[in-house]
Amino acid sequence: MNQIPRDLAVLGGAPWFDRPVAVGRPITGDRQRFMGRVHEILDRGQLSNNGPVVQEFEQRVAEALGVRHCISTCNATTGLQLALHAVGATGEVIVPSLTFVATAHAASWLGLRPVFCDVDPVTRTIDPDLVEALITPRTTAILGVHLWGRPCAVDRLAKIAHNHGVALLFDAAHAFGCTADGRAVGGFGQAEVFSFHATKVVNSFEGGAVVTNDEEFARTVRSMRNFGMDEERQVRSLGLNAKMSEVGAAMGLTSLEAFPRTIEVNMRNFLAYQEELSGIPQITLLDFQPGESHNYGYVVIEVTPDEDGITRDVLFQALRAENVISQRYFSPGVHTMPPYAAPAHRLPITDRVASRVLALPTGPDTTRQEINAISMLIRLACGNGRAVSRRLQHARSTLPSPTGAQ
Ligand SMILES: Cc1ncc(COP(=O)(O)O)c(C=O)c1O
Repeated sequence: MNQIPRDLAVLGGAPWFDRPVAVGRPITGDRQRFMGRVHEILDRGQLSNNGPVVQEFEQRVAEALGVRHCISTCNATTGLQLALHAVGATGEVIVPSLTFVATAHAASWLGLRPVFCDVDPVTRTIDPDLVEALITPRTTAILGVHLWGRPCAVDRLAKIAHNHGVALLFDAAHAFGCTADGRAVGGFGQAEVFSFHATKVVNSFEGGAVVTNDEEFARTVRSMRNFGMDEERQVRSLGLNAKMSEVGAAMGLTSLEAFPRTIEVNMRNFLAYQEELSGIPQITLLDFQPGESHNYGYVVIEVTPDEDGITRDVLFQALRAENVISQRYFSPGVHTMPPYAAPAHRLPITDRVASRVLALPTGPDTTRQEINAISMLIRLACGNGRAVSRRLQHARSTLPSPTGAQ
């Protein structure tokens, strides 16, 4: 590791990286195989409408997750909408606030009211103890989020949903390849929804999937994804155009083939960060449950503010000056965002976690040298908190605010 003391860029030094090293660099797999698939698609002349590549992708995803049905979609946001509509959600849906805004938007767009629940301080996923207290006669569904691939308390939530007669769905956008108590994410609740957005561990440029073991539910979602048509193209219900394209599915298949290596490299990256960041008092690297499978797609640290002025936002800016594009995933809590903010919302754990979290670059394009350098920069910034925070205070007006964007 490069231990040479140097001036941080915020203190006047040159940026460590001469090009951006960012969170969410796409994982595209074997380009030849992808291009081969694209040529086949063009030769065949079917670009969409449940073509053979989409069908193959759905089959491979279902096999990988051990579920009976996979209905691919053009993104996870519409997948969530289809799933919520298919369970007949009306009135209120209980969701965490510590998530990407799409979880709440999907419900809200359907005219449902997202009721925000705080998270468990240890798992940072929706707190089952608090969920129960939020259930009212208007509640029709609970939508948990496996945040950063860390599974929700699936069994406790299932029990609560069952006891109250409400639907249970999971936003599994981050959790492809993860397990809860040894069981693959994908089979929990009535359905789970994955994202294959370009920044995810498996991507189809844009894309998502609703997966379920319930045949009737699968048939409903499949029809709703295609304007509410059945196999004979008769319109049976309200529907959307939420179909994945053939070229998207070609990328999905190619990136799925790369997935074993993606996990291997991500795990190695995570362990490298663990080693390099150890002993920095302000930094806690969020660990994963031992004995479970993870995709390690998100390397997340929590920054404990100190009296010298080190905060998550100070560190974010200090890294940005070095060309390290970390992300404040997920900040601020959705309950504070304009469409949802209300004085009654009090979610102290979400507020605390959201103000401290920072996702660091990982993925197959991230090298050990980059991880060493990023960790060294974090160590240097935390060790020079007073100078760094003072300097940034002067520049505050130029700082972008957190968006929690993808
Ligand atoms: C937790 C969560 N839910 C839903 C989504 C929406 O996924 P998509 O971009 O595929 O619509 C995202 C996207 O990053 C997400 O992080």
